[in-house]
Formats: sequence, C-alpha cells, structure tokens
Amino acid sequence: MKPHTVFLNHGSFGACPKRILELQNRLRAAMEAEPVQFLWRRYEEYLEPSRVSVARFVGARPKDLAFVTNATTGVNAVLRSIELRRGDELLTTNQDYNACRNVLIEAAARTRAKVVVAQVPFPLTKPEQVLDAILRRVSDRTRLAMIDHVTSSTALVFPVARIVQELEARGVDTLVDGAHAPGMVPVNIARLNPAYYTANLHKWVCAPKGAAFLWVRGDKQQKMQPAIVSHGNNTPRPGYSAFQDRFDWAGTLDPTPWFCAGAAIDWMGKVMPGGWSAIREANHILAVNARKLLCDRLQVEAPCPEAMLGSMATISLPDQFQGKPKTSKIDPEQCRLYDEFGIEVPFFRMGHPERRWFRISAQLYNSLSEYEYLGSALCVL
Ligand SMILES: Cc1ncc(COP(=O)(O)O)c(C=O)c1O
Repeated sequence: MKPHTVFLNHGSFGACPKRILELQNRLRAAMEAEPVQFLWRRYEEYLEPSRVSVARFVGARPKDLAFVTNATTGVNAVLRSIELRRGDELLTTNQDYNACRNVLIEAAARTRAKVVVAQVPFPLTKPEQVLDAILRRVSDRTRLAMIDHVTSSTALVFPVARIVQELEARGVDTLVDGAHAPGMVPVNIARLNPAYYTANLHKWVCAPKGAAFLWVRGDKQQKMQPAIVSHGNNTPRPGYSAFQDRFDWAGTLDPTPWFCAGAAIDWMGKVMPGGWSAIREANHILAVNARKLLCDRLQVEAPCPEAMLGSMATISLPDQFQGKPKTSKIDPEQCRLYDEFGIEVPFFRMGHPERRWFRISAQLYNSLSEYEYLGSALCVL
C-alpha cells in the first residue's frame, strides 16, 4: 500500500502484511531456482499445511476444501459442474456481485435455464427482510441459490445460516459466496453445511492476491469439475480424493498465494492478544463508529442496523451528489477523492430510482481520524 494514502477500501482487494509478502518472495525464489522440484515433487509439502490451516479457520475438513485463485473461479467451477435443463431456475439477489451474477447468466444462456433475482430491500431494518425476499422467489424449479455471506455493494452480513437452512429444507442447493467472510465474520462451514461455499483469503485474511478456496459438501464432490480442467481427471495421487486431484493442479500458475494462506492466518492471529476474534471485533467497532461519524457529518440516515454490519459499511452520499448520471467507468468524484485528497474509497450506484452510495472498510491499520478526513473531503468536493 502506498504510504500516505488513506486506504478505506480493504474490502475490494485487501492488503497483505509485509511479513507474508516476504515469505511469498522466498517461496517464489525457491520456485524459480528449482521449478520442477518446487512445482512437482514438493508441491503437496507446501500445499497441505496451508490447506489444513485454512480448513481449521473456516470450520471445515481439509479433504472437502480446495484452493482456487479467487471466489469468481469458485463460482465458475460450481456453475460448470451442475446439470441444468431448460426452465431450471438459478436464484440470486439484487445485492449479489456482478462478476458472479454474470457466471449465472452465462450458465443459464448455455442451458436455457433462467436467472431469478430476489429483490432484497436497501435500506432495511432487519435480517428477516433478506430471508423473506429470497424465499419469496423460490419455486419448484429452483436448482441453485447463490447467496452472499457478506454483500459487496451494500456491505450487509446476510443471515446466511437461516437462509441456507430454509433453502435446503425446500430442496434448493445453496452456493454461498463468502468472498468477504473469512477474517471479517466467524465462519463455520461444517455447521452451515450448504452444498458449496467459496471465499477469498486475499481480502480479510490478508493472504497474497490469488488465494481463495472452494468447499464442496461430500455428496456433491463426485460431479465437481474445476473451472480449469487439467491433469487431475486421470492422475490420481495416493491418499487424495478425486475431488482434490481435480482441483489441486489448475495448470501452471504461481501457487505461492495458496502456500502462504495458512501463514497469513497464523501471523494475523498473533497481531492482537485476543487473536482473530479480537481483530473481527475491533474492525467491527471501528466500522460502526466510522459510519456514525460520517452519517452525522453528512446528515444522512444509516441504511441498516449495526448488527448487520461486519467491518464494512455502505452510506448514502449526500443530496448534492445525487441525480448525476454515470459518465465514466469510475465516478469523477471518487477519482478526485484519490487524486486531490489521497483517499481510496469506492462509490456505488444502486436502486430504482438510482441512488449513489459509498462504502467504507475498517481494518487494523485504519483509525477514526481517517473517516473524519473523508467526511471533510466529501463536504468540500
Ligand atoms: C461478494 C463478492 N463476491 C465475489 C467477489 C469476487 O472476488 P474475486 O474478484 O477475488 O474473484 C467479490 C469481490 O469483491 C465480492 O465482493
């Protein structure tokens, strides 16, 4: 991260501690010094301890979890592996992540299935509104529901345990998009027990970019194919399941983000005396206090209860920002915040009629004074 930037967007791409980047550099040097030894003969030696740490961190058995390069790849793997027929329905919400929605749209176009979008309100006052909106759109043709654990643009922690329970009770398989969840909220996948759970480790776990995983429930593993088919389909390894064989090698790539994921969990877990739960709590409190400060300063209402926040919060931009149509990939005010004030914070447009919002993230390197500075900058922009 550039020194002096007020970085309030950990949610988009995370930030990796220097110690973990140093470890990654050492691993890369070892890979370049002896590529065959590193990528072929000793590959599992590096992969396995990291997989075990990640699995423990998210309450899963290592054999049910495979590394992927990002959550988008995890979603692609699931959508290429399920059999869809004409008229089947893929359920998602209006607050899903655009890239993942595109995967559903493409799978539906290929099979003549249909994407059904549940309209979750925003602003909202209670988690039940999320559950109700989703369940209202379930039909006897719903084959899969893609449900965010923590949404991207609205920064809501969805009541995912209840959603999965209700969907599975209706015979609907759930793919949980947990891109933001590990490191931000407690994750126990075995207890949640959806059909599929994919998540990033390069966001709130602070692993290097390219570290993510896909967890697949035992009864779904036989049909699972990775997004990229490689050697694993006919190259079994003693002691590994066919599911792991298929996923563990995704063609030649830099696997060091996967190898560093366990170390990132361990290193971050020692940064505060209370470990990961203290980190999550500190970040949550900072996000709540920062949102309060900004809502007061900008004279806008908080759009959801504090209990639905993790370590991000989405806040309405004040009236003077509203009603301006989109003219470029990134809104000019967002660019000016970075260029003139050194503040990195994402803007969003949502709803009908459209409203403009911004999202703050809170990570250990942030402090309340940075959000005060953001408030002042938004007032003079
Ligand atoms: C909810 C959600 N899902 C999926 C993704 C995709 O993550 P990636 O680009 O690492 O695949 C993101 C990224 O921000 C996200 O917020």
